[in-house]
Amino acid sequence: MRIILYTGKGGVGKTCISAATAVKCAKLGYRTVVLSTDSAHSLSDSMDIPIGDEIKRISPNLYAQEVNVQHEMRLNWGDIKSFIVDFLNKQGMTGLIAEEFAIFPGMEELFSLLKIKQYYEEAQFDVAIIDCAPTGSTMRMLNMPDIMRWYMERFFHLERRIIKLVKPVMEKIYDNVLLPTDEVYFSVEELYARIRGLHKILTDPDICSVRLVCNPEKMVIKESQRAYTFLSLFGFTVDAVVANKVLPESVKDPYFAKWQEIQQKYMEYARQAFHPLTIFQAQLFDDEMVGLNLLEKMGESIFQEQDPAQVFLREKPFTIEKNGSGYDLYLKLPCANKDDMNMWVKGDELILEIGNFKSNTLLPGNLVNLPLKEAVFQGQKLKITFGGDSDERPE
Ligand SMILES: Nc1ncnc2c1ncn2[C@@H]1O[C@H](COP(=O)(O)OP(=O)(O)OP(=O)(O)O)[C@@H](O)[C@H]1O
Ligand SMILES: [Mg+2]
Repeated sequence: MRIILYTGKGGVGKTCISAATAVKCAKLGYRTVVLSTDSAHSLSDSMDIPIGDEIKRISPNLYAQEVNVQHEMRLNWGDIKSFIVDFLNKQGMTGLIAEEFAIFPGMEELFSLLKIKQYYEEAQFDVAIIDCAPTGSTMRMLNMPDIMRWYMERFFHLERRIIKLVKPVMEKIYDNVLLPTDEVYFSVEELYARIRGLHKILTDPDICSVRLVCNPEKMVIKESQRAYTFLSLFGFTVDAVVANKVLPESVKDPYFAKWQEIQQKYMEYARQAFHPLTIFQAQLFDDEMVGLNLLEKMGESIFQEQDPAQVFLREKPFTIEKNGSGYDLYLKLPCANKDDMNMWVKGDELILEIGNFKSNTLLPGNLVNLPLKEAVFQGQKLKITFGGDSDERPE
C-alpha cells in the first residue's frame, strides 16, 4: 500500500488536494482510502458527503474516513494515561492539570496514524491519502515516536520483575509511591511496538511520501521550507510539492496583475528552495472546491497524465558510507541554516537541534561504538564522520 501524507500551512488547500488526489487515484483503478487525521475534520465538507469516523464507501474504488481522534486516544493511551494521572495526583498535582500533563501535543494525531498501520497490515487498499493537520501539528505528530521512546525508556525503565518484588513493600513504607502494574507495563510495551512499526512504515521511501502543499506567497513558502528541513531530520521522504491557488494566466484583470507578479516571483523561489522536488501546480478555481466533480477537475489539472500514486522522489534523507576504518553519515537537511544547528551524541543517540526542533535519532549499530570525529554542513547536507580507534566518545 502506498501512503501519501499532505501537509502545509493552515488554509493552503491540504484537504482539497488530498481529496482531489484520492479521486484521481480511484479513477485510475487504485483501491483508495482518504483519511483525515486533523481533529478539525473538513473532508466531509470538501467532498460534500457526510463521512464520520467509520470508513465510508464513496464510489467503487474510493473510501473515506475522518478518524475519531478521541476514540483512538482512549484505545491506545487509556490505561497508561490513568497510571500517569494517578502518579501525578500522588505527587500533589490536581486532577485537571494532571490530565493535561498525561497527554503530549501531537499524540492525538499520532494515534490516528496508527489506523494507517492497520490498513497497511490488512492490505485492503492500494493507496492511502492522509489529510494532515497544519504543519506544526504534523511535525509534532511525526516526531512523536522519538518522544515516546524517550518517555517510555525513562518513565517506565524499571525492570518489571524487580517491581513485582518490591511493590508491596514500597507501597507500605512510602505513602505516595505508585508503581506501574503489569497491565500498565503491557500497554506500554504493546504501544511502543506499534509505534515503532508505524515509524518504520512511514520512513520507508518506497511506501510513504510526504507532499508539501503551499501557495506561492512568502510566508507560506517559508513555513514549507521549515517543514521540509524537519521532515528530513526525522527521516521522512518528501517526494513533491503542490503549489495551490495559482492565478491562471488567462486572468487579465488589472486588479490581479500585482498578485500574478508576486506569485511568479515565489514560484521561481520555490523551484530553487525545493530543488530537485517536482512542483505541481493547482490553479485558483473560480468556485469553492466542494463536491466530487470539482475535486476530479482539480486532480486532473494538478497531475494531468501523471499517476499521483507513484513515488516522485526516492532519495532517503539519511545515507551511510564506509570511510576507511570509520563511516560517514550524510543527513539531507534542505533549507537548514548552519548557525541554528547544534549536535551531539549521547549513548546510542544522535541528538540534533535546529532552531526550536530537536530530534533524537538512534544510531545504527555499526556507528554506536565509534567516536564522533567531525561534522560538516555543506550543500544542504550534514556530513558526520564516525571513526578512529578510541572507545572514548566526545560528548
Ligand atoms: N485551488 C483552489 N481554488 C479555489 N479554492 C480553493 C482552492 N484550493 C482550496 N480552495 C478553498 O480554500 C479553502 C481552504 O481549503 P482547504 O480546506 O483544502 O485548506 P486546508 O489547508 O485543508 O485548511 P486547514 O488548514 O484549515 O485544514 C476552502 O474553502 C477551499 O474550497
Ligand atoms: Mg484541512
